[in-house]
Amino acid sequence: MDVIVAGNREELGKAREAAGPGRYALVPTMGALHEGHRSLIRLAREQADQVVVSIFVNPLQFGPHEDFSRYPRTFEADLGVCAEEGVRVVFAPAVADMYLPDRQIAVSAGAMGSVVEGAFRPGHFDGVLTVVLKLFNLVQPDVAVFGQKDAQQLALVRRMVADLNLPIAIVGAPTVREADGLALSSRNRYLSPADRVTALNLSKALRAGAVAGAQAPQREPERIKDAARAVLETAARFDPPLLLDYLALVDPATFTEVTEDHRGEAILAVAAKVGTTRLIDNVVLTLG
Ligand code: PAJ
Repeated sequence: MDVIVAGNREELGKAREAAGPGRYALVPTMGALHEGHRSLIRLAREQADQVVVSIFVNPLQFGPHEDFSRYPRTFEADLGVCAEEGVRVVFAPAVADMYLPDRQIAVSAGAMGSVVEGAFRPGHFDGVLTVVLKLFNLVQPDVAVFGQKDAQQLALVRRMVADLNLPIAIVGAPTVREADGLALSSRNRYLSPADRVTALNLSKALRAGAVAGAQAPQREPERIKDAARAVLETAARFDPPLLLDYLALVDPATFTEVTEDHRGEAILAVAAKVGTTRLIDNVVLTLG
């Protein structure tokens, strides 16, 4: 079946009419679709009768010195991916169709939006939640799928749904990785071969942390972070170097640092620059 492309609310309404009734799942993306996005679409298909993929590079979530203008845009290839994966509707609005020139109101991600990743990207999560709420209102899905790769984004979307009483189920999808461990990302295409060798140390560090976390009785947060930090420090001497933004061990729901008495799941999250590319990754650990 052909993919129906919609660019605004009216076209979306018509597309939904053509696609037919049933349960709708939304997979929000910024395009440059890869295997990670495909896995989200497959999960969405298990959750609903019809899948809508949104493709929108959201200017609100990019800082003034970030990569909005050079963010990869591969619309035709993305449509091919959506067709292969059985997506019924692609919602791909223009910036002018999403944001009124005199817009005033936005979502605030609150304190949880200004820690960890948010501390390095002021306003980023406000921009993410604002566009996600708009996409929810436009598409009106029953369920929406987000990747664990962006763990703080997933936690904040869950928080928004709870705090604002949105009638949408949120499903988290596991991180898809290359065979060598590198988490798939649209930004990986910026990496030179040398960058990629350095970049591999993000997932390597997380694995080292996970091993330390699994080895009772060495489950203290600092031991877990030390094991990861040792890998990151070695990679800081690579050419190009790995330039660490943060390494954090946090509660999956609140993104506050876990303490020694924490039991249950914790997220070991890392962000670093390699060459001109900024990468993030995380793993879920079970402590205690
Ligand atoms: P984007 O980076 O395109 O990611 C879209 C979705 O794919 C997100 O839920 C993200 O977590 C997921 N994803 C990315 N890489 C993944 C991987 N390797 N494995 C599994 N899932 C992966 O995240 C955004 O876009 C935007 O912030 C958006 C939510 C669309 C709002 O603009």
